[in-house]
Amino acid sequence: MKQIAKILTLSAVALTLGACSSNLERSRSLGNPNVSGNTLAQQVCSICHGEVGNSVNGNSVNPTFPILAGQQAVYLEAEMQEFHEHTRKDKAAQDMMWGIARDFTPAQIKQLAEFYSHQTPLPNPAAATADPAMVAAGQKIFNEGNLEKAVPPCMACHGANAEGNGPIPRLAGQHADYLYKQLMAFNDDAMRGEEHEKNHSAGSEEDLERPHGVAMEGIAHGLDDAQKHEVALYLQSLK
Ligand code: HEC
Ligand code: HEC
Repeated sequence: MKQIAKILTLSAVALTLGACSSNLERSRSLGNPNVSGNTLAQQVCSICHGEVGNSVNGNSVNPTFPILAGQQAVYLEAEMQEFHEHTRKDKAAQDMMWGIARDFTPAQIKQLAEFYSHQTPLPNPAAATADPAMVAAGQKIFNEGNLEKAVPPCMACHGANAEGNGPIPRLAGQHADYLYKQLMAFNDDAMRGEEHEKNHSAGSEEDLERPHGVAMEGIAHGLDDAQKHEVALYLQSLK
């Protein structure tokens, strides 16, 4: 009974999202180059990435939707460009971001990146329920990497507080489920590369979910499933 209720809830969510994205694509704001980034944020992005114009300000609560508040502007711009060009292509990106980014102009992308990078990131409420032992194990990976698999410390690139820097994203306070999913995408891309090497076939960007994430492929591949969860939980706990 419980299981059925859960399935029903999930399909209701899927229906709402499906309906919401097709309505969204018909939104008057999308596809109009004269609409400012700030208006787009208010009318379109807020539906998934959290309200704007109040204390929420792009701090989404649902882990399907990454928090954009306080994210590095250079990184935000690069990702929106990738959704626009269809280079970033995991399923959620295809289903939800491709249609939205289809008609963005470079000016709108820049304004949106500026807008979200200036919103204040909030502590993630989900951190309160994380297993402290897993968070501590994640902290060790973040600070020291995983020597056994030659994984460098995450902080070497993402910064001591995972604040990011230009094209390197801020990870602090991000939803653990979202971070874990991205680590899996980099991991899958690393495995696709290995497959090509084995078959002496040429790999291409076309096969990769995040072709601009090569720096992350070996790193994600060098963490086992539990380690990916641990480091994601630690990152979620950072403020
Ligand atoms: C229908 C829901 C939905 C709407 C509306 C939406 N997004 Fe997204 N967005 C997503 C999802 C889902 C992802 C995560 C994709 C993935 O898992 O790879 C995402 C990812 C992103 C990312 C990448 C973040 C990161 O950390 O890599 C950026 C940037 C982004 N969206 C910007 C926007 C902007 C700007 C708007 C408004 C113009 C917008 N989104 C509207 C669902 C949405
Ligand atoms: C050599 C530098 C480097 C190191 C070390 C590094 N990263 Fe990254 N990371 C990056 C870059 C660059 C990106 C952006 C990739 C892209 O543009 O697709 C990234 C992206 C990510 C993302 C995706 C974020 C998002 O919003 O979608 C996650 C998650 C991540 N890194 C986690 C980690 C973890 C965990 C570690 C340590 C185990 C780590 N990184 C170590 C450079 C690095």
